[in-house]
Amino acid sequence: MDLTLHIWRQKGPKDNGKLEIYNVTGIDTDQSFLEMLDVLNENLIKDGKEPVAFDHDCREGICGMCSQVINGRPHGPHEETTVCQLHMRRFKDGDEIFIEPWRARAFPLVKDLIVDRSALDSIIQAGGYVSCRTGGTPDANTHPIGKPIADYAMDAAECIGCGACVAGCPNSSAMLFTSAKVAQLAVQPQGKVEAVQRVKSMTAELKAQGFGNCTNHYECQASCPKGIDVKFIAKLNREYIKALVK
Ligand code: SF4
Ligand code: FES
Repeated sequence: MDLTLHIWRQKGPKDNGKLEIYNVTGIDTDQSFLEMLDVLNENLIKDGKEPVAFDHDCREGICGMCSQVINGRPHGPHEETTVCQLHMRRFKDGDEIFIEPWRARAFPLVKDLIVDRSALDSIIQAGGYVSCRTGGTPDANTHPIGKPIADYAMDAAECIGCGACVAGCPNSSAMLFTSAKVAQLAVQPQGKVEAVQRVKSMTAELKAQGFGNCTNHYECQASCPKGIDVKFIAKLNREYIKALVK
């Protein structure tokens, strides 16, 4: 499969970036999108040119690092799929593919396709944890939790912190990410104890980091590779209102 790639190139935060055109040939349909970029980079290095900088780590859909907007969609055209799990069989021979970084004020560009997503870490540091000792894995079974609550918490815990919800949202809102973290802990006995302080601290940090507000576009849910539901944003709002009246 031969492809024409339009890739955002930008040497650093202060440079003007632009889309540059690259041709790749002989791509196997079984290769992943990142493997296709590896082929491009090997060719660029052989030609003495600067390879394209992009983030990745696990390449298994669990770390949330592979942040790229492909043909206008965070994580590309296939629903509930991270870039690293996107296969080239989703494209056709001769396709033109546009590859850009996440774009949001809270995610300053570092280089090419890499942005600084540490604003999400700051939100977690503000309260996305349980501060008491809850024991090791075997101890979890000594504190039974009903199946509906366990399922609800697990659905929220699927968030991998990739930031696609922010990149997809016209307001660059991180409400889906924050709501998943708040909801996951708010329904569990270990997390309920600090629920009031948690929702206040995390929403304050959300604002401080420069993310926009949610205005119900649902683009976050559509962009999310883990299918995180906007029902968690409703839960976040309920937790916030409860915290205000306590
Ligand atoms: S809610 Fe979805 S899109 Fe947003 S950070 Fe979590 S996994 Fe990524
Ligand atoms: S590289 Fe880890 S989720 Fe894609």
